[in-house]
Amino acid sequence: MSEFTLDHLGIAVPDLAKALAFYRDTLGVACTHTEEIPDQMVRAAFLSAGETDLELLEPTSDDSPIAKFIAKRGSGGIHHIALRVQNLQETLDRLAAAGVQLIDREPRPGGHGKEIAFIHPKATGGVLLELCAIPQADANTAHP
Ligand code: CO
Repeated sequence: MSEFTLDHLGIAVPDLAKALAFYRDTLGVACTHTEEIPDQMVRAAFLSAGETDLELLEPTSDDSPIAKFIAKRGSGGIHHIALRVQNLQETLDRLAAAGVQLIDREPRPGGHGKEIAFIHPKATGGVLLELCAIPQADANTAHP
């Protein structure tokens, strides 16, 4: 198994209900989960596309990074790509040691109970890259 798995694509949407009306109701992709993620000031819906989710993100505040992204761009769109890793802190430490420009030096809470951290687009060729992981304690509980 690769150290990295494509976990989800983050899509900024100005209106989650409208986005779900398309992706879930018209296109027919199953929505597995919705939740508010206060740390990122977003409401998120996860749609299951095989091994990978589509993460629709609607800002809950004008201060949300997603609100700023939509304002700058003039519309919603692909916001980030997320790769799942086994141990997020270890990966961040390795990247920091290699001089990679990180937005988050420490993991923070994301959707689905995962921990997440972002790598700056300057380091990735223009893509906002999220790294995510299932917290180790939970991983151990899930697979005793
Ligand atoms: Co994400």
